[in-house]
Amino acid sequence: MSEAPRRVLDVVDADLGYGELQVVFGVSLHVNAGELVGLVGGNGSGKSTILRAVSGMIKPRGGKVFLGSEDVTGLKPHDLALRGLAHVPMGRQLFGDMTVEENLSLGAYLPPARARRAEGFERVYRLFPDLQVKRRAAAGSLSGGQQQMVAIGRALMLHPKVLIMDEPSLGLAPLLVREVMHVIRSVADTGMPILLVEQNVTQVLRISERAYVLENGRLALEGPSAQLRGDPMIRRAYLGL
Ligand SMILES: Nc1ncnc2c1ncn2[C@@H]1O[C@H](COP(=O)(O)OP(=O)(O)O)[C@@H](O)[C@H]1O
Ligand SMILES: [Mg+2]
Repeated sequence: MSEAPRRVLDVVDADLGYGELQVVFGVSLHVNAGELVGLVGGNGSGKSTILRAVSGMIKPRGGKVFLGSEDVTGLKPHDLALRGLAHVPMGRQLFGDMTVEENLSLGAYLPPARARRAEGFERVYRLFPDLQVKRRAAAGSLSGGQQQMVAIGRALMLHPKVLIMDEPSLGLAPLLVREVMHVIRSVADTGMPILLVEQNVTQVLRISERAYVLENGRLALEGPSAQLRGDPMIRRAYLGL
């Protein structure tokens, strides 16, 4: 008998919103150990709202969030970070005047990560040798692709159990988008579980194992990415075929 895959992140029947306004309706999704999972959908479909609930920035009005087997519903961002949830925010949010190394070290601010700082740098520089070369350069002087590496590297400094990313390709030129997707795949290849939120459906379906498609706050489709790439609805609505 084969064992069920271990879930590192599990969102169950989430109802989410802001004040009176509900924008996410009964969404369930999960990430298994070692998986790169895409969450795709158009602008305003509720992707960032789901990530905000996962990282504790908003409280779900209904449903639950589990990290591993622990119910973490409603915990604050700090407590979720302590439990190994790392968030690469939209727009990278680097300190442009600070060096690459200083930006990375911000990811190791929590005591458990601080104790493993040297190991964290080693891991990030092994994955992104460019950043080691540029470690004393101002983050703002780096290329867009390298800045995205810094943002991901900063999250890895936490030694996370799962990484969530909000639209890492946003605002990048097409060539850089491919580079960033390659970078994300290489992070996943180290075994790091990732939930990748993107509008760029083509790219995400190319690099992910599974994906969820969100429309107007509801899941419209889900499945293995290879299968979704051939889905007529996806091809029509997102791939322009
Ligand atoms: N802070 C907020 N207050 C009120 N409404 C919001 C807020 N953030 C997002 N929304 C609304 O929630 C819906 C989903 O937004 P969002 O999760 O950001 O979508 P996506 O990330 O898929 O573009 C949108 O209609 C948006 O206008
Ligand atoms: Mg968003």
